[in-house]
Amino acid sequence: MYSRIVGTGAYLPEKVLTNFDLEKMMDTSDAWIRERTGIERRHIAAEGETTVDLAEHAARRAIDAAGVRPEDIDFIAFGTTTPDLIFPNCGVLLQQRLGCFGCPAFSVETACSGFIYALAIADKFVRAGDAKCALVVGAETLSRITDWSDRSTAVLFADGAGAVVLRPSSEPGILSTHLHADGSYKDLLYCNGGVSRNVVDPARARGTIAMVGNEVFKIAVTTLGKAVDEALAANGLDKSAVDWLVPHQANIRIIQAMARKLDLPLERVIVTVNEHGNTSAASVPMALDAGVRDGRIKPGQLLLLEAFGGGFTWGSALVRL
Ligand code: UT7
Repeated sequence: MYSRIVGTGAYLPEKVLTNFDLEKMMDTSDAWIRERTGIERRHIAAEGETTVDLAEHAARRAIDAAGVRPEDIDFIAFGTTTPDLIFPNCGVLLQQRLGCFGCPAFSVETACSGFIYALAIADKFVRAGDAKCALVVGAETLSRITDWSDRSTAVLFADGAGAVVLRPSSEPGILSTHLHADGSYKDLLYCNGGVSRNVVDPARARGTIAMVGNEVFKIAVTTLGKAVDEALAANGLDKSAVDWLVPHQANIRIIQAMARKLDLPLERVIVTVNEHGNTSAASVPMALDAGVRDGRIKPGQLLLLEAFGGGFTWGSALVRL
């Protein structure tokens, strides 16, 4: 028994913030942001618009694409680091919106690899026969934890949501997933807000993102390179078997390094970082949906999904669509 992605969906908030808008807010330039990151614009949630609001749109689109009904969903795994509430978790809040009461619903808090973690967990439940119609979501409102006075991070992060529906299949489907974490790097990328450990002014308890960007960059490239090798070796596949790389969208230079590693031309890589910025857990499912909906990714093709983020946490999924 395998699990198979049978529908994808994504949603971006309406408000667009361009590099030129940022030039007016801080000491930065469109040229620097484009050259160093590949980002041209990003979407920002409206006042009062929450992570679960974005996720609901993406989930309904994935459910429609899968040809199932919201009440058919029997498992919800939700990757996010910007939850609406401490509890109930975003998975439960989304379940309430969709009306698929009773099924397990939870959130996974592994920063940018949140969707890959959620996908890996859902895949195992479907393969075990314990879920027949699993909804996997990655959604974020990172604008809420962005330090708008710090140009080194404020130009990077953004908001959005992506989702997939998994169903059981006798043919793969998801061939493999690999998950990793290394907490020794916790100080290179983190958000200093918290509940139990009150490190910031209680009035600003959710904190803001802090990152040692150039250190993260170097480790991301080598670590993701190893993750790519691991995914291929586990399936006895050569890199030439991969039709599409669907990477985490943090920086075009990291994406280009992964494409070179796979000997893939950029035409075989789904790139959304220019339009979306870094949306953490939402980036991979939104990129996947973009490639599926515009017809570039076709049924039967082999996709390599990968992500790397705060923790560090990272992971991959090798998927036949
Ligand atoms: O999604 C989770 C994982 N995250 C990542 O993978 C992100 C990895 N890191 C990166 O993508 C890159 O390191 C950044 C885009 C964050 C930064 O690019 P960089 O080429 O590593 O730049 P840097 O941090 O080494 O800074 C170079 C210069 C500095 O100036 P000096 O010291 O050379 O004079 C910065 O002050 O660029 C300056 N700088 C900026 N200049 C204009 C930093 N941010 C900006 C900015 N506008 N927004």
